[in-house]
Amino acid sequence: MTHWDDSENVAVITGASSGIGRELALQAAERGASLVLVSRSAARLAEVADACRQRGGQAIAVPTDVGNPQQCQQMIKQAVKTFGGIDYLINNAGFTMFARFSELPSPELIERMTRVNYLGSVYCTYYALPYLRQRQGRVVAVISGAGRMRGPFSTGYGGSKHAMRGFFESLRVELKPDRVSVTTVYPGFIDTGIYDRIEGADGHPVPGMKEIVPAFAMMSVERCCRKIWTAARKRKRQSVPGLTCRLGIWGDFMFPGLTEFFCQRMLPKEPPRSQRPQALDTSA
Ligand SMILES: NC(=O)c1ccc[n+]([C@@H]2O[C@H](COP(=O)([O-])OP(=O)(O)OC[C@H]3O[C@@H](n4cnc5c(N)ncnc54)[C@H](OP(=O)(O)O)[C@@H]3O)[C@@H](O)[C@H]2O)c1
Repeated sequence: MTHWDDSENVAVITGASSGIGRELALQAAERGASLVLVSRSAARLAEVADACRQRGGQAIAVPTDVGNPQQCQQMIKQAVKTFGGIDYLINNAGFTMFARFSELPSPELIERMTRVNYLGSVYCTYYALPYLRQRQGRVVAVISGAGRMRGPFSTGYGGSKHAMRGFFESLRVELKPDRVSVTTVYPGFIDTGIYDRIEGADGHPVPGMKEIVPAFAMMSVERCCRKIWTAARKRKRQSVPGLTCRLGIWGDFMFPGLTEFFCQRMLPKEPPRSQRPQALDTSA
């Protein structure tokens, strides 16, 4: 295995307080990188920063809501002020949903998901770009297999991830002359806490989501993150961690009708709920 020395590299990682972002930070810390850890939770970020320092990296926690462009701008300023530049921007922060579109009490969940998953990565990239250009840096977009395929009860998530795909695939071409690479990542099912946080129509976590995923299809977060770092360091165009996801993307492209058939058969007829949303009163 090739070993990279990251001791001179600065990486901004969004969504670093848990799951994929946290593990990406820990793996980079082991190689001596300087890390800017970003998410909303100051307490959880501080814990990850401590763990990174113990593994040999430098780390600062910058609590930020990526759905807020001013906060993203401030976060990038703080990153550059602390470490002098940016080599990697990992756009990873995001959340997901499992709810029928027609049962949402309002379009608010879709707006919030678009703002965080899609616009959050656009804001961070916009403000980091001048610094990435200076160092011929690397942008990574952690998208999802859902950004290449379709599935029910996931309209807001699928929409935000397809938007990420369109944005970052275009940006890659635009940044070619600047030698800034853009790696799009389409993970399948990764064993993080995300399945306990999937939002239903009422905005509360939907129970039992992890059980829907067949065990053979689940990839460990450690393995997924090793693949992401390798792809980013090699400036790969894209990475699809997980054979099941690769097969799914290929199958969906080749036989779109068949994927829809399997989705209908494998997924529950109705999305499980934490609490049935109030039906709208249309009698008046
Ligand atoms: N796990 C999977 O199977 C899977 C598959 C495909 C794609 N992905 C994608 O991979 C990314 C990471 O997923 P994960 O599984 O690691 O999920 P996770 O454990 O739930 O982590 C999500 C991270 O995003 C942060 N976040 C959420 N909203 C934010 C906001 N408004 N501003 C800043 N940070 C925010 C969370 O921190 P705070 O709550 O502290 O803000 C947390 O650190 C997501 O974009 C997800 O869509 C995951």
